[in-house]
Amino acid sequence: KIIFDLAIKGAYKILEKAWERYERAIKNFGKEVNVGFPNTAYYLPIIYAILGYPVKKLGDCEEVLQEAKKLLPDLSSSKNGLLYLGLALDAGMATLFAEEVVEAIRYLEEPNLYTKTEEPTEDNIWLGAADDVIFRKRGVEFVDGSSPGFAVLLGSPPDKETAKNIVQDLLEKGLYVFMHDQTNGVYMPYLLREAGLQLGWPVRLVPFGPHYTSIVFAIGFACRVAMSFGGVKPGDYINNLLFNKYKTFAFVITFGPPTEEWVANGLGALNWGIPIICDWAVPEIKIPGICIYEALISKPTHCYFQVIMENQEFYRSSVPEIASQELIEKALEVRGLKITKTKLNIPVSYAPAFEGERVRKEDLYLECGGGRTSALELLISSSFEEVKDGEIRVIGPEISDLPKIDKKGPPYRLPLAIVIKVAGTNMQEDFEPIMERQIHYFINYAQGIMHIGQRNIVWIRISKQAVEKGFLLKHIGEILYNRIKQEFSSIVDKCEVEIFTDEEMVKKLIEKAKSIYEKRDARLAGMVDENVEEFYSCTLCQSFAPTHVCVITPERGGPCGAYSWLDGKAYYQINPAGPNQPILKGEIIDLKLGQFKGVNEFVKKASKGKVERVSLYSIMNDPMTVCGCMEAIAAISAPVNGIIIVNREFDKETPIGLKFSTLAGMIGGGQVTPGFLGISKQYIISKKFISAEDGFLRIVWMPKILKEELKEKLQKRAEELGVPDFLEKIADESVVNTEEELFNWVKKVNHPVLKLPPLT
Ligand code: SF4
Ligand code: NI
Ligand code: NI
Repeated sequence: KIIFDLAIKGAYKILEKAWERYERAIKNFGKEVNVGFPNTAYYLPIIYAILGYPVKKLGDCEEVLQEAKKLLPDLSSSKNGLLYLGLALDAGMATLFAEEVVEAIRYLEEPNLYTKTEEPTEDNIWLGAADDVIFRKRGVEFVDGSSPGFAVLLGSPPDKETAKNIVQDLLEKGLYVFMHDQTNGVYMPYLLREAGLQLGWPVRLVPFGPHYTSIVFAIGFACRVAMSFGGVKPGDYINNLLFNKYKTFAFVITFGPPTEEWVANGLGALNWGIPIICDWAVPEIKIPGICIYEALISKPTHCYFQVIMENQEFYRSSVPEIASQELIEKALEVRGLKITKTKLNIPVSYAPAFEGERVRKEDLYLECGGGRTSALELLISSSFEEVKDGEIRVIGPEISDLPKIDKKGPPYRLPLAIVIKVAGTNMQEDFEPIMERQIHYFINYAQGIMHIGQRNIVWIRISKQAVEKGFLLKHIGEILYNRIKQEFSSIVDKCEVEIFTDEEMVKKLIEKAKSIYEKRDARLAGMVDENVEEFYSCTLCQSFAPTHVCVITPERGGPCGAYSWLDGKAYYQINPAGPNQPILKGEIIDLKLGQFKGVNEFVKKASKGKVERVSLYSIMNDPMTVCGCMEAIAAISAPVNGIIIVNREFDKETPIGLKFSTLAGMIGGGQVTPGFLGISKQYIISKKFISAEDGFLRIVWMPKILKEELKEKLQKRAEELGVPDFLEKIADESVVNTEEELFNWVKKVNHPVLKLPPLT
């Protein structure tokens, strides 16, 4: 109970401070000034998620603070047991509301406190709230399983060795590490930087802010995941709390004596089922170490945030002071995370967290490809006789030979060819490119090894640190062999890896590989929807958008850009009970719209009755739903009779007055929204791009970066349609920013859309 007293006291203090800051800000800026976190459609996300209240202006904060005040219990009220926990949780919630207001005011008062970038800059380590671009990119990893969740660290261990060990441990488990506040003047991210670690979203080490109030960036992130990927509506606090409790794996670890404020924040986090693990005794209670597990209340009646406590157990157990390493185990145990670690016989750490890490020039030991030397990677299927299972060979100089060959290095350079041969009864040639694409992830997960590109434009860098630990080229073979056998066990029976570093041989192999790549591309390009009997479903995103189903055809891949028809086919072979199932087209209902009886039946069942019909090629009639992880969004502009496209990376408003993030919020979560379509970038240049409504020629606007990215392919498609100057007729943000301007633009350039029938 003492812990609850602390929490409630802390909450009072924090709320009081928030009021002070609010009043000061009102004096300086007035009630009408805009407030919010940068580039987000979720306003102040915790307040928006829980109360459904969009804070837009400074004056809006007053209502929130009033609401927070109501949540604070009377200190003299009944202090008995479980009810009291409810009060403390409410106080925790009030704390987070107040802190979000405080952080919003900080953005106003100190606009340069946070970098607002993905990675720290040289002179600023604190990143602040994740904008929607970062959020989408990273949040989706909690959906697709590449990260189980996050650890919120409050304060810091005293020395850099401990700090490094702790985060290394967390990263190996795939978790994101969020860092806040300090302990005795020590800030964790500075220690990590000193220890030579790279920081930022790409490497999953996120220094959010120097104050404890920055914890709202972490909890707000979780709230947005529920709203964006889980289809939880703003204000639906019950489902937001439950969603995170069951789907996002998260916990708080505090370092050093927990203050009242920390405890109040901890109780706030507990509302989402996020437990707190302290490494320190709380002084007032003189129990060495506290550990709040999950909350239990059987049936509370008056508590605002009661739902989260149903059917749960509450413990407050005293445990002997926990050593840092044990802390994490404790946290994992409390939260019930089972880590299936990939066992590899290599001398460096191996985890998804190391995918985003770079090997910088100063750290470089060996470099292959990337225009410096010739290099390639190739995966081919062979007959059983030709493949010796488990054989890993390095042909040419190994890393250990380098100092003998070249006295100048490091950095050293070598040509490199990685050739993987697989055999299996279920193996098909079609699966080769799909498996080959995984090489990137397989290799990149190794700490100190960087992998960029594919095929004969691959680029690999190996760091000095990795080599010091004993990393050799043969370990690349070790990684590839094991991961392939593991991930593709149902199609690969035998696998062999050869790594060539001999110049002559690599050159020869490149010639051979080029003709294989060409053959593959030609095959892919020739595939059309009409020539296949079946499409494939993808329901991978149902874990977050339970009624969403993607239908993947040869000419329309998944909106996330990660799944093509061939992928669907291969993954069905690999896992016949998995999220990719064949869909027999069946009877044609409407060829132009792309409606098929078999597809409708499948989608109806897989969407649990929510979606009855799908047109594969239409934006107006029964368009396909989308979960939240699309690469781009197509939307109609009614006055212009055209289609605009905006990609995720573009963070400004489109001419229809909405940003990508706002649009995403409107159409995500598996709803049917005529006039809007979540799409992959690749789909834009498909012959089936919204073909029911002459989609391609209706494109009137897209951001410059997207136009640049797809330039050649767009041009080719425009020529096919007999409008070679079409690209110049597509407006971008440099010429058009409103619908009115767009209207004038299409007239001015005599855009083909003028001759198209009205969209209905
Ligand atoms: Fe999600 Fe669809 Fe991509 Fe599958 S294809 S991962 S369901 S967006
Ligand atoms: Ni790596
Ligand atoms: Ni998705």
